Amino acid sequence: EHAGVGAGAGDVVGGQALAKLSASVHFDWRLAPYDIAGSRAHARVLHKAGLLTADELERMLDGLDRLEKDVADGTFTGTVADEDVHTALERGLLERLGPELGGKLRAGRSRNDQVATLFRMYLRDHARIIGGLLADLQEALVGLAEAHADVAMPGRTHLQHAQPVLFAHHVLAHVQALSRDAERLRQWDGRTAVSPYGSGALAGSSLGLDPEAVAADLGFERGSVGNSIDGTAARDFVAEFAFITAMIGVDLSRIAEEVIIWNTKEFSFVTLHDAFSTGSSIMPQKKNPDIAELARGKSGRLIGNLTGLLATLKALPLAYNRDLQEDKEPVFDSCDQLEVLLPAFTGMMATLTVHRERMEELAPAGFSLATDIAEWLVRRGVPFRVAHEVAGECVKECERHGIELDELTDAQFAAISPHLTPEVRGVLDVPGALASRSGRGGTAPSAVAVQLTEVKADLAVQ
Ligand code: ARG
Repeated sequence: EHAGVGAGAGDVVGGQALAKLSASVHFDWRLAPYDIAGSRAHARVLHKAGLLTADELERMLDGLDRLEKDVADGTFTGTVADEDVHTALERGLLERLGPELGGKLRAGRSRNDQVATLFRMYLRDHARIIGGLLADLQEALVGLAEAHADVAMPGRTHLQHAQPVLFAHHVLAHVQALSRDAERLRQWDGRTAVSPYGSGALAGSSLGLDPEAVAADLGFERGSVGNSIDGTAARDFVAEFAFITAMIGVDLSRIAEEVIIWNTKEFSFVTLHDAFSTGSSIMPQKKNPDIAELARGKSGRLIGNLTGLLATLKALPLAYNRDLQEDKEPVFDSCDQLEVLLPAFTGMMATLTVHRERMEELAPAGFSLATDIAEWLVRRGVPFRVAHEVAGECVKECERHGIELDELTDAQFAAISPHLTPEVRGVLDVPGALASRSGRGGTAPSAVAVQLTEVKADLAVQ
């Protein structure tokens, strides 16, 4: 047996160890304003049910107002001994109202339905904050696309030159992904607009309280939960929120990776603004893409928050288990990370200098117009199988002579195939290749203009 952990001392040591393990005030204190809002709503339904007189309700609301003020200015804070934000605020109320009145608020509610409700309220507020920051980024990217509406760049697959595309088309592809993330946040909010308050510990309340009134009071547009066990035990709203924030992180990291590559000497597609990049402590020539790298790095952390949370939830029996206290830190962290990352990222993208000459110089390189030869032949009635072969022969001929496709002579074209008349040159320039892809969603300036209009309309209602 360890020294000092005898029968009597063990109680003390055990109590302290448990309190230390159990305490969550250091991370759930941010739920305090929501807890107080929940208490106000709860006091009103207690009154409605005849369990608080009008006078008691008034004094209760006044006590909650004073507590809220003291929380806001830091006069009142939770301690390790309080365990969590809910018990701490209950202590605060008892101190302000006395045990007689203060002790009445606990009737008909449990920390289990409280925390499930307040957590939804907190995340719904932050979904709106993150949605707003996302819209700022989408606007910056739309601005970047509009400011370079006619710039061509090499489009890539497998990171190899594939076909020329408009830079605006490429940038808007990222905007499309972010629009879906914004839509996910809105749809998630719709699913989360249901209040568990009134579920009690798990079985509901016998006191005739009105959960629908609490839900309306707390801004839950879809009323209260239909099942008190589910209301207290469900955390899929947290997991889904963690997924959406992880997805946003992943989408940012894909943009970030491209900015990092574009910013290299070898690519030289973009230059980062001084205010949104960092120098090196020893190499004066360096301009490091730290914001993009941090975005890439933080996406890993956001994914970790999601997987950690799912692991916590896996195989938990109904209803509430203390494991669920582990649900908050990961998504609080996801909110915190995105809320500092997004503004910096938006600034980086909004201030990017694009080197159009460099992009346009490389747009036709790497035989990226070979597909245009094949499609030109198809438009003239040549079967695609043959057209593909002929275009391949053109590439081989160029490789043999170390030239580009538009440098092939009329004689060389004719020798490859009689179908290759000199008119083929019409598609061997980048503007022609771009303009030909004018179908919906294509990279032609006309199609990209349509896309830009749609994206802007979508952003306006977001
Ligand atoms: N702080 C806890 C949580 O976040 C809620 C407390 C519920 N505790 C309990 N013993 N029922 O999950």
